[in-house]
Amino acid sequence: MSDDRKKDIDDLSGVETTGHEWDGLKELNNPLPRWWVWVFIACCVWSFWYFVAYPAWPVPGGATKGTLGYTQYKELKASQDEILLRQQAYIENFEKSSFDEILKDPALYAFANAGGAAAFKENCAQCHGSGAEGGKAYPNLNDDDWLWGGRVDDIYTTLQHGIRVQNDYDTRQSQMPAFGKDGLLKRKEIEQVVDYVLNLPQDGGAADTEVNTGAGYTIFQENCASCHGADGKGMRDFGAPNLTDKIWLYGGTRAEVFETVYNARAGVMPAWKARLDDNTLRQLAIYVHQLGGGEANEVTPEPVIAPTETDADSNTAPDTPTETPEEIGHEQ
Ligand code: HEC
Ligand code: HEC
Repeated sequence: MSDDRKKDIDDLSGVETTGHEWDGLKELNNPLPRWWVWVFIACCVWSFWYFVAYPAWPVPGGATKGTLGYTQYKELKASQDEILLRQQAYIENFEKSSFDEILKDPALYAFANAGGAAAFKENCAQCHGSGAEGGKAYPNLNDDDWLWGGRVDDIYTTLQHGIRVQNDYDTRQSQMPAFGKDGLLKRKEIEQVVDYVLNLPQDGGAADTEVNTGAGYTIFQENCASCHGADGKGMRDFGAPNLTDKIWLYGGTRAEVFETVYNARAGVMPAWKARLDDNTLRQLAIYVHQLGGGEANEVTPEPVIAPTETDADSNTAPDTPTETPEEIGHEQ
């Protein structure tokens, strides 16, 4: 049929048309560019090869397997194995190094911090905040105000055994008496001692003599100093906060401090020993330590011997409270 047809040449371009015409627009019969045809053929060949080589076609119970035996699971496993292999070198080193050694080794230190940061987001952020900034009743871990101690070892112990954990023998333990609720002090006396606390210099300086004479002062020395120190600066052995540093765990208004002294507080931090492996705990301890308020480890532990003449005036000796917290607790 088409043979008989007269060739229709487009006037403007001189190219043959296909004979299709719409409203006076004619379709030119240009051949496809050669390169385009080759790319098209290459794509067809490639897709056929891909179809055979890789899992491609859904069949009952999965898909065709493909001659290469490729799966994404295998790929994932390979990349995980590679990561583990790279970590292994660090982990072995990390396991046998002391905290002091890790703190001095930049590579191990960075490794520990990265692991600690990840574990913190997962386990600690819900209470302490994702930036460890804390909140009411949950201490800020970025500052140098420590309830229980800011050396890596202290933090490690806190993490292992928690604070006031019921069934952990080694947990950090101490309990401020509920002076009002348990009738140890009268309401008036609590008001006086609260005033005294609120009037303590909040810059860590020594209380002036006027503050140091009133009724509140006496009540404080008799009831509170054994844990918070005669100067109110706190004692870590009892997790008793510094009351002179403007940092309030439970709030610093008169009403809040009154509430604290009347009913007492007893924050509980879980013990992590049973839930996280030791490497993770050590990484967390290092991570928390470097957040801001980390304190240097002493190189040698303090010897537990009676003071001699030479170290009697050493200011590192902790103040010994006249009564232990247990004794006070039993008074009730
Ligand atoms: C269920 C809430 C909770 C979780 C989860 C939690 N903490 Fe705590 N944490 C507390 C509380 C409450 C305290 C303060 C206890 C007190 O009043 O002495 C505390 C205290 C601490 C302290 C002691 C601070 C000081 O001043 O001595 C450290 C260190 C600490 N947490 C680190 C962590 C890390 C690291 C994790 C994650 C593994 C974690 N916490 C998870 C509630 C929590
Ligand atoms: C047996 C030890 C002990 C005695 C005695 C004691 N405290 Fe405490 N006090 C603590 C502990 C431990 C905490 C922290 C509680 C917590 O972390 O949950 C605390 C917390 C506080 C706080 C809260 C501080 C903050 O940052 O929010 C105030 C205020 C306070 N005590 C005042 C007093 C006063 C006043 C007395 C005396 C009338 C007193 N304490 C006696 C152990 C004691």
